Amino acid sequence: MHSSDPHDSTGQQYRTRGENTDQQQAAQNRSKSADEIADAYAEVADKLARWRQLDRLFAGRYRRRQFEHADGRVLDVACGTGRNFRYLPSSSDVVGIDISDEMLVYARSELDRLELDGTVHRMDAQALDFPDDSFDTVISSFSTCTFPDPIAALREMERVCTPEGQILLLEHSRSHAAPLAWLQDWRADAHYEKNGCRLNHEPLEAVGQAALPVEKASTAFFGLVTAIDATPR
Ligand SMILES: C[S@@+](CC[C@H](N)C(=O)[O-])C[C@H]1O[C@@H](n2cnc3c(N)ncnc32)[C@H](O)[C@@H]1O
Repeated sequence: MHSSDPHDSTGQQYRTRGENTDQQQAAQNRSKSADEIADAYAEVADKLARWRQLDRLFAGRYRRRQFEHADGRVLDVACGTGRNFRYLPSSSDVVGIDISDEMLVYARSELDRLELDGTVHRMDAQALDFPDDSFDTVISSFSTCTFPDPIAALREMERVCTPEGQILLLEHSRSHAAPLAWLQDWRADAHYEKNGCRLNHEPLEAVGQAALPVEKASTAFFGLVTAIDATPR
């Protein structure tokens, strides 16, 4: 993955606020409730846990690059089954939160397996139950696509991050390759209905709307993966 703000490795310029397509606008407007999303992930938790080798193969290198320099007290927002934990420095003091108890069962056992110092909690990313400035690093992966209100969740990440801390995001995004983007747009409604995930969303758009200062952003894999380093204001 190459950093090239505001272009990706192919020279494609990022869409910025105000430039989003009708399809993306439609994606942003879709919203299931947090309870509906929790139910959707309760159903697929076992399957996602079984697919961890596949995830390592396809997403492992992006997770490693984005999260290996996480520092100090680390909050993983919407940690799911804990797939990021193995890429964090072994000295990390990790707290994982997720809306789904079923996903958290796997996250807890991943912490134990890795012998990492940490805890996991059921919590809504849009209303984090932590005081301001509680974490040195806030990380989140493949999550803003599912939050009913991604802007609220991003603002909560900023609130709980220390002023000198960092917010590291890894997200899927709408491809800059026309056929792939077309496929994403075509499947978006059905995918959202089934999985509660906005397949063609644009994470940089959400980060812009939350007014989070972006330090670095890059895309990879035809623009399907976006990594964003942001800092609290
Ligand atoms: C696609 S999974 C990603 C999980 C994990 N971050 C990863 O990279 O494998 C999305 C996760 O977001 C969680 N989630 C969705 N809405 C949430 C919310 N409002 N608060 C906390 N977690 C939420 C889901 O339960 C699910 O575990």
